[in-house]
Amino acid sequence: MSIRIAATGSYVPERILTNQDLEKMVETNDEWILERTGISQRHIAREDESTSDMSIIAAQRAIEMAGITAADLDMIIVASITGDYHFPSVSCILQGRMGATNATCFDIAAACSGLITGIEIGVQMMRGNKRYKNVLVIGAEKLSSITDWTDRGTCILFGDAASCVILQNDGKAEDDVLVSSRLGAIGDHPQILCIPGGGSRMPISHEVIDKRLIYIKMEGSAVFKLAVNAMVNACKTVLEDAQVNPAQLRWLVPHQANMRIISAVGQRLDVDDKQVYTNVRRYGNTSAASIGLCLDELNRGGKIDRGDYLLLTAFGGGLTWGALLLKW
Ligand code: UT7
Repeated sequence: MSIRIAATGSYVPERILTNQDLEKMVETNDEWILERTGISQRHIAREDESTSDMSIIAAQRAIEMAGITAADLDMIIVASITGDYHFPSVSCILQGRMGATNATCFDIAAACSGLITGIEIGVQMMRGNKRYKNVLVIGAEKLSSITDWTDRGTCILFGDAASCVILQNDGKAEDDVLVSSRLGAIGDHPQILCIPGGGSRMPISHEVIDKRLIYIKMEGSAVFKLAVNAMVNACKTVLEDAQVNPAQLRWLVPHQANMRIISAVGQRLDVDDKQVYTNVRRYGNTSAASIGLCLDELNRGGKIDRGDYLLLTAFGGGLTWGALLLKW
């Protein structure tokens, strides 16, 4: 098989919310946010701009780069926890709006690990079925729609964005982009990062809304510790499986949640700071979109060459975690 990443794409909404803007909304300050998170601004979607609206722009940019049309897509996988509706899925909405009539469509809910989970699923399905030649994997979130703007412990973190990759089996290369992978979950304390209300456990009601249970709740420091350990272990496993050492990496691309988490992961893996890609300062935590935003910046910025090793790692609600070692 010869599955490559043929293209990347991304989109961030125009509106920027700075730390100074947040100072006017909740009791916080720029110094605290920068020091504790490394974030100085995030992009926020318009009220009438949905996850599929953002996804379609990112997808069109990638389709253009790949030199294909929407009709060439055999599969659309969307990773998101903020779909336009409970159902239909974002992928089906996109299929209709883009005219991707030949595409199999489904969404996955793996929170911040969504894009890497989607890439793993896409590659494995392409390996198993040669009919899938072009697979679009999107990570997209309108986190502003599930953020409690009165909770300073969370509202300073999140931003909106969409990003994607197109996996292509062109029959030309000798090896696959996915060298090794490890995805997992820690499912025994879901409450430390969740939205308690609005699902089948606690359907939406006036009480659920009044108690603000339709927004993200997070025990930040508990998530922090689990995240660092899970990402480091996942990365070590995929490097070991592939017999690749950290010095051989062109880039470590961690989920962009918090600069302190990113630095801790880099240090514990013994990866040089120069090999660690970060853009959390400009976008905040965009959950499933975050790794794809990095990939698109690297790719369009000419900072990845064919044959480079990239180590992607993520963790998020669930908790889900994982790492993929890619050979570009
Ligand atoms: O991608 C999804 C996964 N999520 C994450 O990866 C996030 C993981 N967690 C984190 O990034 C960090 O835990 C946070 C950035 C959320 C919080 O940082 P922290 O260093 O863990 O702070 P903390 O929650 O322990 O709070 C320290 C202090 C508290 O005050 P006291 O109790 O020490 O007086 C908080 O009340 O900072 C206070 N605080 C704030 N102060 C100013 C909490 N939020 C703020 C704020 N501005 N926005």
